[in-house]
Amino acid sequence: MSKFSKPKTILITGATGGIGEALALFYAAPGVTLILHGRNAAKLAEVVAGATAKGARVLPQSLDVRDIAALMAWVGAACEAEPVDLVIACAGVNANIGVEGGGEAWADIDALLDINVKAAMATINAALPSMRRRGAGQLVLMSSLAAYFGLPLTPSYSASKAAVKAYAEALRGWLQPEGIRVNVVMPGYVDSKMSREMPGPKPFMWTPEKAARVIARRLASNWPRISFPFPLNFGCWGLSALRPSVSTWILQRLHYGG
Ligand SMILES: NC(=O)c1ccc[n+]([C@@H]2O[C@H](COP(=O)([O-])OP(=O)(O)OC[C@H]3O[C@@H](n4cnc5c(N)ncnc54)[C@H](OP(=O)(O)O)[C@@H]3O)[C@@H](O)[C@H]2O)c1
Repeated sequence: MSKFSKPKTILITGATGGIGEALALFYAAPGVTLILHGRNAAKLAEVVAGATAKGARVLPQSLDVRDIAALMAWVGAACEAEPVDLVIACAGVNANIGVEGGGEAWADIDALLDINVKAAMATINAALPSMRRRGAGQLVLMSSLAAYFGLPLTPSYSASKAAVKAYAEALRGWLQPEGIRVNVVMPGYVDSKMSREMPGPKPFMWTPEKAARVIARRLASNWPRISFPFPLNFGCWGLSALRPSVSTWILQRLHYGG
């Protein structure tokens, strides 16, 4: 049983994606306010309708998170207007070197870093002042198992998720004494547009609904690091503990070598 009360006001970026939508619908209930972000306005309207049908009050916002000033203005205003209990920075993109190993275009790397790193940190940063004033709240960053050891198929994505993991770990230590919880989520493969577009094997794939249930349960218990599924989590963690030359050899054997 969690010692924390259930979040009543929740802000989620990337709520039009597989995991973000599943989280929004998981939390949707009477008495809950969902502040939901997506870029695709039609898909956002669909998610809003689903959450409203489950009894939630929904405040939607559509914007491109690469517009950092607009993103921060929106998150900051939303957190001043409502006592937001939980912020989940879920918006993200992937890039890869291609099936022929041609490499990542700089434009794709540039956009990925803006979205996965700068926008994620900006979301958290904009929510902080109101939470620090209240001495309460929970901030969640969406990393990946790819953060443990850089995967040759996805160099910039792995780097972005390692950045986000380190940021969350650092914030947790800083903000814990103020009563603010910070958690990092490190999923393996979850069925979504992003994972479907990824090359390479995708073992132990979870549905977004299962991922949302597990994430929400562990957030309620304030797990510092929420990483899953078990076999892949253990394997990826192991890669970071082995000699790098051995890890790279293993990845080649498992067809993640690029
Ligand atoms: N699926 C996996 O296997 C997996 C594994 C590990 C980590 N993750 C992480 O989990 C998070 C969610 O991934 P997902 O699987 O749900 O992916 P997804 O279905 O592709 O959804 C991505 C979300 O990010 C939003 N987004 C992307 N670029 C944006 C931009 N420039 N401006 C505004 N919104 C933008 C998308 O909005 P629109 O669609 O409205 O444009 C969508 O809501 C990501 O951070 C991802 O890295 C996923």
